[in-house]
Amino acid sequence: MKDPLTSQPRRMRQYWDEKISWWASSSYEERPRGPVEQLMAHLRRSVHARAVIALEMLRPHLEGRTVVDVGCGNGHFLHCCLEAGAARGVGIDISPAAIEEARQLSQRHGTADRTEWHVGRAGDGTLPPGDFVTGFGLVDWLERDECMAFFKALTGRYFVFSFSEMDGSFDEWVHYFYLIKRLEWFGNGVRAYHHPRKTILGRLKRAGLRDVRIVERPEMRFGRLVHNLHLLEEQ
Ligand SMILES: C[S@@+](CC[C@H](N)C(=O)[O-])C[C@H]1O[C@@H](n2cnc3c(N)ncnc32)[C@H](O)[C@@H]1O
Repeated sequence: MKDPLTSQPRRMRQYWDEKISWWASSSYEERPRGPVEQLMAHLRRSVHARAVIALEMLRPHLEGRTVVDVGCGNGHFLHCCLEAGAARGVGIDISPAAIEEARQLSQRHGTADRTEWHVGRAGDGTLPPGDFVTGFGLVDWLERDECMAFFKALTGRYFVFSFSEMDGSFDEWVHYFYLIKRLEWFGNGVRAYHHPRKTILGRLKRAGLRDVRIVERPEMRFGRLVHNLHLLEEQ
């Protein structure tokens, strides 16, 4: 059967199929491999930090709610949400290997009946029903149109997602070169994208999402969170 994905998404899927297992363990379980990975694990502590901070932002609202996590990886964040009181979690990821890992994690956690895992793309313009939409480490992998489609799909939803800042710190430069330049030079067709704050805010505005806030904390290093959860409190 013909693969319905065009070559760029197919390459992205293969890239993450190969990478997700050690990426998740070095991000969340502190088991980096060689010296380069140890350096990257240092940066990935920001990955852990952004999950912790986002969870704290969501925690007061989670009881009985459904969280849709796009680019869910191995399902780590959704399981944190379930432990914090969410009723259901729906994970979507382009990588079948990531979705398989997430399914296995939910078997181990005994949450299979409260979770759904789907192979899918952020930019296909649709999102399953749910009270909150999250996406961590996702937009770095979305080209312009896919990013825009994801933002449009957020309309009418409460959301929190991360993006990578590049305003001059050492960690931001290392992350930029590791992620953007390394893949540009050696990525064999897989690309990552730097969408600066101005671009993120401009695209959100074009998608009709004007009232958003940005969270910036030292422990997230190059990572930032953008959200509209304050609208919940204003209700
Ligand atoms: C940096 S990892 C983050 C995983 C997870 N959100 C976390 O923070 O632990 C990026 C994830 O986005 C997924 N991804 C990349 N492009 C995607 C797309 N277009 N649609 C959905 N998922 C995508 C990858 O397969 C990978 O699992």
